[in-house]
Amino acid sequence: MVCLTQKAALAEFVERQRKRGASIGFVPTMGALHQGHLSLVDRSALECDCTIVSIFVNPTQFNQVEDLVLYPRPLEADMALLSASACDALFLPAVPEIYPGGAVVRPQWDFGGLDKGLEGQFRPGHFDGVAQVVKILLECVQPDVLYLGQKDFQQYAVVRKMVELEQLPVDVRVCPIIREPDGLAMSSRNVRLGAEAREKAKALSQTLFALREQIKRGSSPLQDLLDPARAALEASPGIALEYLEAVDAETLEPVQEWNQTLTILLCVAAWLGGVRLIDNVLVSTTA
Ligand code: PAJ
Repeated sequence: MVCLTQKAALAEFVERQRKRGASIGFVPTMGALHQGHLSLVDRSALECDCTIVSIFVNPTQFNQVEDLVLYPRPLEADMALLSASACDALFLPAVPEIYPGGAVVRPQWDFGGLDKGLEGQFRPGHFDGVAQVVKILLECVQPDVLYLGQKDFQQYAVVRKMVELEQLPVDVRVCPIIREPDGLAMSSRNVRLGAEAREKAKALSQTLFALREQIKRGSSPLQDLLDPARAALEASPGIALEYLEAVDAETLEPVQEWNQTLTILLCVAAWLGGVRLIDNVLVSTTA
């Protein structure tokens, strides 16, 4: 694996790959890597000739300075994990390399409402920052395929929309959520959970799994299932629920009923012990 910190060096690497006719898969990350990230690397290696991973903690997508400052940056461990993986090149730029004019978020796109609900409600401007950095990274890497995780489903939807609006020649693929044995979705923020919060955190995925079963079993209005599930989470000491919602996986608009033609995204966000966690499951005839 080569490690590149400059856009020019990356461009040379990409050019060499192109000359040998290699297809390029790209996995953007903010580091603090875990099996979730590595599953995207594996998928890229399976489908593309060359896999490029970026580690860049993007300042423009953080709503709270504290979250940015506390974001884990275990670079040595990350590089060891990537060296042992199928990653061919790591792009590790410093902030001025990505934002020569300063790390300022510039809203550029109308995402057709995809950025407004769920995370957008609680993290204003977050998706403008995400789409902005992904566009810059795509310009640097010029991949054939961009790999994103279902863990951040709304991010996937917004990035897909940006790619469509910009008519970028890249295929955006989403990969399943990798979980801990007790169901907790893997996340870079999990290392910040204290023992008590870590134990409680499994309630989020358990709630989603139970709701998915209930939805697929019965025909009751979704509200009748969501309300008690919300109440149970709200009543759990140590869990501060932000949202638990059922939306259409295409439009991210709230849905009232499930039917066989619809794919629903059930999603949750909550604070546990000072750490904000998100999770989701898809509900469809196949999921
Ligand atoms: P980060 O949180 O590091 O995540 C990088 C990629 O890994 C994202 O596509 C995310 O959805 C995926 N991922 C995270 N946890 C996962 C899990 N448990 N299972 C499967 N995939 C998982 O998302 C970002 O970084 C940033 O917003 C970024 C896209 C890099 C732009 O700055």
